[in-house]
Amino acid sequence: METETNKLIINGKQKLEGKIKVDKAKNALLPIIAATILCEDDIVLKNVPKLTDIKKMNEIIVALGGKINWTDNSLTLNTSTINNYEIPPKLASEIRSSIFMLGPILAKHKYARVVYPGGCDIGSRPIDLHLSGLKDLNVKILEEHGFIYCDGKNMRNGLVHLDYPSVGATENIMMASVFLRGETTIFNAAKEPEIVDLQNFINSMGGKITGAGSSTIKIKGVKKLHGTTYTPISDRIVAGTYLIATAMTGGKVLLEDCNFEHIYSLITKLRNSGCKIDYDSDKILIEAKYKPLSCPSVETQPYPGFPTDLQAQFLALQTISEGISVITENMFETRFKHVPELLKMGAKITTRDRMAIVRGGKLFGANVVAHDLRGGAALILAGLAAKGQTTISGIQYVDRGYEQIEIKLASLGADIKRE
Ligand code: EPZ
Repeated sequence: METETNKLIINGKQKLEGKIKVDKAKNALLPIIAATILCEDDIVLKNVPKLTDIKKMNEIIVALGGKINWTDNSLTLNTSTINNYEIPPKLASEIRSSIFMLGPILAKHKYARVVYPGGCDIGSRPIDLHLSGLKDLNVKILEEHGFIYCDGKNMRNGLVHLDYPSVGATENIMMASVFLRGETTIFNAAKEPEIVDLQNFINSMGGKITGAGSSTIKIKGVKKLHGTTYTPISDRIVAGTYLIATAMTGGKVLLEDCNFEHIYSLITKLRNSGCKIDYDSDKILIEAKYKPLSCPSVETQPYPGFPTDLQAQFLALQTISEGISVITENMFETRFKHVPELLKMGAKITTRDRMAIVRGGKLFGANVVAHDLRGGAALILAGLAAKGQTTISGIQYVDRGYEQIEIKLASLGADIKRE
């Protein structure tokens, strides 16, 4: 699990050919791991990828007093021994998803203390929507000396309206409401597939949640939850990353265990770029023979719009496509840290605020640095398409969301190794 080093060496221009099984979704598993706090029985999660973000969430569960057993393909958790409701500040400051612990700890133990979460530096990452939603459930919140104290002894059901369809806030409030007598409603909820997966996971433990995937979610309070064995959905961002990699190298790749509906916004853009894409219920086949055509514009939006987590990777594709394109990042204020690194590789990009204007051309190998998870993935894709050798440092960021990415890409014919 621990990576020996954080540098990749890529010799570009190798076509990607073959098939790959897509991992289970990091952004489904992180809230699901938090939700295990709601239940006192064993929970078994199947096919959990060895990602550093998941390792960190497990460390938080153990630090709170819970038990973890992670064999090759399943993660067993038992949180009945949790006796501490104060998330360790160092661990919490390392990952954004530590904030997902707030809802379930409050639901189960009626008290929690957290610090402002960390995570990839892609923007300020506030949690005001999480806190205002919990206040709507009558949680008393005090912020003092960098800590957030939450008193949930008088929590009750309620109506929560999110000013913005925040994924994390939606998930936190869903989990906080599971035991509240009566019915809690979330209006303007986020609609991501990972939220549907959290609903299905909690319902597999005996919860009564409906509406996930729409903008109104209803949570009927239950007395207790029971153990379950659950397999999460596949990772739509990992799948999209491999589709874009293939579009950039001009290959032919079959993705197995993925859901085309979850990334249909990308599929349409790749078809506009000249890729041939076919799919059935759990596979996607992409074939890219020619130099990609440019997609005039891409705007990141909440699901089902074009995902912000594929913005960097799609921008890398645009740097080698015919013509000019404009990519607008509407979700996070500083999610273009990959641009200066792509410029070192010969990309022609101008950024202004949340907009990147890209003129397609050629990429050449260079020494570049990853500054965040998806930006790092974009640099890997650029290295695959560049002429010559690219070294990428900072790969610890990429390991947060991609399991052994160099081994998976090498299995498709890429000339890539971790040094
Ligand atoms: C989740 O982050 C994902 N992370 C992110 O993926 C993803 O980019 C994001 O959703 C959007 O799809 C996980 O699921 C662990 P948000 P989250 O709350 O929940 C603002 C990756 O690469 N906002 O939907 O933090 C926020 O600043 C990661 O895998 C508030 O203003 O995203 C942003 O502009 C990166 N106040 C927008 O909403 C709040 O209280 C979207 O954030 C919360 C959010």
